[in-house]
Amino acid sequence: MSGHPAELDQAREHLRRAASICVLTGAGMSAESGIPTFRDAMTGLWQRFDPMQLASEEGFRADPGRVWRWYAERRAGVRAAQPNGGHRALAAFAQRHPGRLTLVTQNVDDLHQRAGNADAIRLHGDILAERWLEPCRRSPSCDPGRALAAEPPRCGECGNPVRPGVVWFGEALPYHALDAAELAARRCQAMLVVGTSGAVWPAAGLAAQARRQGAVVIIVNPQPSEIDDEAQLCLAGTAAQLLPALLDPL
Ligand code: OAD
Repeated sequence: MSGHPAELDQAREHLRRAASICVLTGAGMSAESGIPTFRDAMTGLWQRFDPMQLASEEGFRADPGRVWRWYAERRAGVRAAQPNGGHRALAAFAQRHPGRLTLVTQNVDDLHQRAGNADAIRLHGDILAERWLEPCRRSPSCDPGRALAAEPPRCGECGNPVRPGVVWFGEALPYHALDAAELAARRCQAMLVVGTSGAVWPAAGLAAQARRQGAVVIIVNPQPSEIDDEAQLCLAGTAAQLLPALLDPL
């Protein structure tokens, strides 16, 4: 078990006392389920791929087939993955304490949902969802699920391509998700930040918002992150190791 035992106890006591807890998760949350992170040295996706080519509208327009195939591979990885002990510990805590935990995730996989957190707030969309690149002008709108098979699939009426339902670089976050996440961050008494580098905004700013309103901020990450200064406690360890140790006794 990693994470200093005294710090683990302290963190657990903060969580025990907190009437409302906001949890912010990032790619490290799903690393032990076999889904690669973005910025980890060696294994991170952005070490091997150019995010502007693969995760921007510009990159999609330049080579839609390349982007579509890259997401198809990632989707297959997500479908094959299973929630780990960290996802399960969060879901079990939420079930034991109805209404006490708000889960906010930057992850586009569905592992929190499959573990049982059906109402997790998804800041960066859903990799398994599909939508039109251009807004559909028909009424009622054409269904992207019925597009003509191709890489990417296209509308049989107008040729509009289908794109993955994720937020790309340069795009705004879904308004309702960001609003709900900011509200939860401002209202919580404890914020638990798990497996994020804290490099991507506005998600990275949620810990500071919680801290400013008087919440205790606890980080779980085997490595330092860019938002460690916002935290009273940084527990060095992984999500699947530390979350059950932290939450199962509560
Ligand atoms: P990053 O890849 O930037 O950071 C992953 C973090 O997880 C690092 O700080 C690692 O140290 C940590 N980590 C690795 N393994 C872990 C484990 N087993 N348990 C806990 N932590 C672990 O991922 P994010 O911070 O999520 O955007 O990246 C933010 C956004 O940048 C992503 O949502 C994605 C990306 O571009 C979109 O998809 C829109």
